[in-house]
Amino acid sequence: MLRKFLLTTVFASGFALAANAAEQVEVLHWWTSGGEAAALDVLKQKLESQGVTWKDMPVAGGGGEQAMTALRARVTAGDPPTAVQALGFDITDWAKQGVVGDLGDVAGKEGWDKVVPTALQNFAMYDGKWIAAPVNVHSTNWVWINKKALDAAGGKAPESWDELIAVLDKMKENGITPLAHGGQAWQDATIFDAVVLSLGTDFYKAAMIDLDPAALNSDKMKEAFDRMAKLRSYVDDNFSGRDWNLASAMVIEGKGGMQMMGDWAKGEFLKAGQKPGEDFVCIRFPGTQGAVTFNSDMFMMFKVGDANKNAQLMMASDIMSPDFQSSFNVVKGSVPARTDVPDAAFDDCGKKGMKDLAEANSSGELFGSMAHGYAAPAAVKNALYDVVTRHFNGEIDSAEAAKQLADAVAAARG
Ligand code: GAL
Repeated sequence: MLRKFLLTTVFASGFALAANAAEQVEVLHWWTSGGEAAALDVLKQKLESQGVTWKDMPVAGGGGEQAMTALRARVTAGDPPTAVQALGFDITDWAKQGVVGDLGDVAGKEGWDKVVPTALQNFAMYDGKWIAAPVNVHSTNWVWINKKALDAAGGKAPESWDELIAVLDKMKENGITPLAHGGQAWQDATIFDAVVLSLGTDFYKAAMIDLDPAALNSDKMKEAFDRMAKLRSYVDDNFSGRDWNLASAMVIEGKGGMQMMGDWAKGEFLKAGQKPGEDFVCIRFPGTQGAVTFNSDMFMMFKVGDANKNAQLMMASDIMSPDFQSSFNVVKGSVPARTDVPDAAFDDCGKKGMKDLAEANSSGELFGSMAHGYAAPAAVKNALYDVVTRHFNGEIDSAEAAKQLADAVAAARG
């Protein structure tokens, strides 16, 4: 007990908190793959070294849909966890319910508003209060390519749609599954983010952010769906329901040529001991260079009793510390959610991710990811998922999909 009282953490800003005996944080999250668990462990270890007990509540399922269902049940029962991994509009939706906590005490003393990009503050704050601590910035317009498979397909990383198709064709000829993919709605939507963006940043903004009916049901959208159908032709027959990390494993093992996935995929390559540039290559989805569709994992804090309030603030403070943002994101595959963290500890893909993010932010080409809840609230996102997945599975053609996309969004917006 005395030991716990002595475990005082002094923060860079001079802010100090100490764990009281038996303080704990219960954390709901969906980080259950190898790479994700390794990253989460960095946070868990940090808190445990400060005397805070970590109560784990993992809910498997990439993209977090199942986790959000589990959260609803806990909040409805009047027993929310201390902290919950959450994305974008879901955070705002919970804030509107009046159940989230207030991190103002730490955020103010530590000057979060000076170092967290505005695009993230828009979601981490509600009604002028900090309600969530952003732990990273991921982005969805990446492609992860097996280096040997790329070399066997000519060795040049594709920079345009036509070059991408040429590489995929070559990989097919070489007898591997060109595109490793898992048939789950959120994974289909993750590719869709990149495909829409590859047809122009104005188009992405009009369709995914502004939800403009004229962009949703347009010739360009039909072209986006044609591209999706083309990509589907490079996926193997067993893709239905496959988890994203198993698709990453196919690329790691060389059975698959590439995966179009957010940079959490890098966490899997690293966990398998692979190195960027040697074993795998990271590129922006061809045609989207310069632009970024982001999603930031945030730990949204719920109202907790006095017994655990201190631990909750310690967790938030730990998450926001520059050292932690570096050590966590190096493992996770993402980049820091603060603008003042050096890139020294990051590998080449991480350095590129940080540079791309800063450039996209200043050129106005940084957009919220539709697939990961940063473009529109869940009702609209789910309506989009449904159409994208039915089209990917060949149930509707591209023209019909564009029409249904506009109709589904209109219905979801009410
Ligand atoms: C995303 C999340 C990532 C990663 C991925 C797959 O929504 O932001 O951190 O966990 O799902 O599970």
